[in-house]
Amino acid sequence: MKTAGDLLFSGDWLEDRQEDEEVYVATTIYGLEDVAAREIEALCKNDVSPLSPPPAGENATGRDDERDERGDGSDKRVLYGHGKVFFRGKKNILYRVAMASKTINRAGVLLSAGRFRSLGDLVDIIKRDVEPEKYLGKKQSFEVRFKRFGNHNFTSMDANAAVGEIFHSMGYRVDLTTPDVTLRGWVHDNRFFFSIDATGPLYNRHYRVCKHPAPIRPNLASLLVFLSGWPGVFEKNPADSGVLLDPFCGSGTILVEAWWAVERRPPNLMSHFRFENMVFHDPEVFENERAFLQNTWVEHREKLLDILGGSDVPVVVGIEKYKRHVDCCLKTLGAGDVPGTCFLGDGARFDEYVAPEKIGGVVTNPPYGLRIGSKKTSLPLHHRFIERIKRIKHSGLNVPLVMITPHRVVEKHLTGLPIERRRVAYGGLWVNVYRVDL
Ligand SMILES: C[S@@+](CC[C@H](N)C(=O)[O-])C[C@H]1O[C@@H](n2cnc3c(N)ncnc32)[C@H](O)[C@@H]1O
Repeated sequence: MKTAGDLLFSGDWLEDRQEDEEVYVATTIYGLEDVAAREIEALCKNDVSPLSPPPAGENATGRDDERDERGDGSDKRVLYGHGKVFFRGKKNILYRVAMASKTINRAGVLLSAGRFRSLGDLVDIIKRDVEPEKYLGKKQSFEVRFKRFGNHNFTSMDANAAVGEIFHSMGYRVDLTTPDVTLRGWVHDNRFFFSIDATGPLYNRHYRVCKHPAPIRPNLASLLVFLSGWPGVFEKNPADSGVLLDPFCGSGTILVEAWWAVERRPPNLMSHFRFENMVFHDPEVFENERAFLQNTWVEHREKLLDILGGSDVPVVVGIEKYKRHVDCCLKTLGAGDVPGTCFLGDGARFDEYVAPEKIGGVVTNPPYGLRIGSKKTSLPLHHRFIERIKRIKHSGLNVPLVMITPHRVVEKHLTGLPIERRRVAYGGLWVNVYRVDL
């Protein structure tokens, strides 16, 4: 039986597509692909076609060193690996994911994928697979951008030039500054993916109304919230799920993303996307999808606000040491229409601001002491926080904690608890994401 990895790398999926279907590739944060895959699966439900029926334990890359929590041998509708999520369906699926996903960086149409032996081989496979007229207007300019992982006898620039020449020789115009279309490729050892960037970046949010020196990227914040399993995201009544607490909240990104997950808000409902200028775009399907997303979100939000009634109990709460960041956080919560608040104080003494029995989950990104502050203050702060968590745990706190940090203090000091650690590539660093069931 073919594995999912075999399928993507053999090119068979090109033949398997229905006339009106494509395989899409969404990029996300390395190390959290499974979380993004679950979000996409939930958004698309039965509107995505199975990519393949792989055996238990297989995933998109065919590597068994990567997580696949289902591993149940069921049809895989959404595959993941190498910082990417793959799914197949009609155009409305691309539009839905572009407007509604909170966890991905960008999305594109997968044009080619495979194993290759040399740069010439890679060029030949792409030439064989890609039908440029389906994606590029004759008057549109393009650029090619490859990222390379592993050792090769060519650079990313070499790949850009060699693959770019395929389209240039067909009469398409190269523009490396303001191209109409970006063709994105990734080379991982002897395997590659090649796509057209259909959306542009999807992680910008309108609620960023003030400056913080180290805000977390919104889609990473969202991934951490989903990873935590904080019941607010899944329960019908957020009032029953306990408060989501970020004890080192800075400008409040995690708080907004947590509430947006509760209300199932499509963060890019009103954004513009690169596909709007592409030859395959269908404005009618797009507008239908937008109306569907808007209606389901507004309906759900109204239901939630009804449930919460006049209650002014915040659903999300932050603590922050500096007044200027507290002010910024409150402004951000306002801009994101979030029923939450932020206290000025010491996050390591969080139980002085929120009663432990009111907490439903903790998701946080404490100061690393690398870019701002120093390790000298950051490590003891981590330590004080974990010690407090331990104390509270002993008095019956029973909630998930998710924390992103380069320091390993969590595993050193929370021994005896089930700790899941992931290595995540973020901001040019490898950092740890810990998930602990307290
Ligand atoms: C990495 S930043 C968090 C950024 C935040 N996630 C955002 O998106 O804006 C860490 C924050 O912790 C704050 N901080 C440092 N020490 C603290 C303490 N003892 N209690 C609460 N906050 C603290 C810093 O001022 C900083 O705003």
